[in-house]
Amino acid sequence: MASGLTVAVVGATGAAGATTLRILEERKFPVRELRAFASERSVGKTVTFRGEPVRVQRIEPGAFKGVEIAICSAGSAQSKEYTPMIVRAGGVVVDKSNAFRMDPTVPLVVPEVNAHAAKHHQGILASPNCTTIVTVMPLKPLHDAGRLRRVIAVSYQSVSGAGVKGIAELREQTLAWARGETIRASHFPHPIAFNLIPAIDRLGPDGYTGEEMKLVNETRKILDSPDILISPTTVRVPVFTCHSVAVTAETERKITPGEARDLFGRFPGLKVLDDPTQDRYPMPIAVEGQDDCFVGRIREDLSSPTGLNFWVVGDQLRKGAATNAVQIAELLLG
Ligand code: A2P
Repeated sequence: MASGLTVAVVGATGAAGATTLRILEERKFPVRELRAFASERSVGKTVTFRGEPVRVQRIEPGAFKGVEIAICSAGSAQSKEYTPMIVRAGGVVVDKSNAFRMDPTVPLVVPEVNAHAAKHHQGILASPNCTTIVTVMPLKPLHDAGRLRRVIAVSYQSVSGAGVKGIAELREQTLAWARGETIRASHFPHPIAFNLIPAIDRLGPDGYTGEEMKLVNETRKILDSPDILISPTTVRVPVFTCHSVAVTAETERKITPGEARDLFGRFPGLKVLDDPTQDRYPMPIAVEGQDDCFVGRIREDLSSPTGLNFWVVGDQLRKGAATNAVQIAELLLG
């Protein structure tokens, strides 16, 4: 182990992939050889790791030979195609896509919440949806202390959750607006600059999006509590980085705001920023670039005797994607 591992990053040119390279560096993950993969379009381009250029390689038979750990963020269809190749070549995959999350044989892991689940992997471990990760971090200590009965979660999701094209679209539309030009939507179904889109992806016949049902199903799986009632609404907002979630959590045993502050403050990876007298609360602009999730606006739910309201913000490229995946890979080292 001292000499390090051969690590593949699949989707290395994307928003989450580029952040993964940075996090591997920052956390001094023991990488002996880094292999970068992306689509055919990027073969031959370079990404930077530890200050050195790394050439993006073509995904072809034999490409994953010798890879010990692969972190994949190239999308679900790509994960379904490449993951079996990596596992057959003897590598363990930490997958950031939706491809395997609900597969009962695949652990779905947020290390602060359910690190124990990682032990039972069969070659693939899944990292949850970015909004799920940010939401489940504060839910876990509440669940342990008071048993969650019902959760209402409304998310405010930044454009980088939709990858590099999402970032480019908000920038281009903002510049177009400043020049007095018409704003045109291409990546998102509607203009995102100076707007809110109350559906992250396609609406199903039941009126819910896939993103919303990820929040429901993944939270239940991570907390190993299939009976928690969860009511989700996910919204795309014109913010570059960080997802924010307004949460109402109803527990079997009442948890006061004071107790919740204490529980959140002691939970690893969570920080409390909650001073109503000074107008202090978490905001995307302040949380961007950090690995911790920040909780504030902690208050009683006036409509329910055992309800608690709070607001949580996390950098979804870091804790919501890359940091969580690298933390899962660290569990494999142990
Ligand atoms: P590329 O940059 O060559 O398109 P994002 O989520 O920011 O859009 O990034 C998606 C990542 O997944 C990029 O690195 C992208 O590479 C990569 N990708 C997209 N399609 C494929 C594919 N068919 N095979 C491998 N990588 C892919």
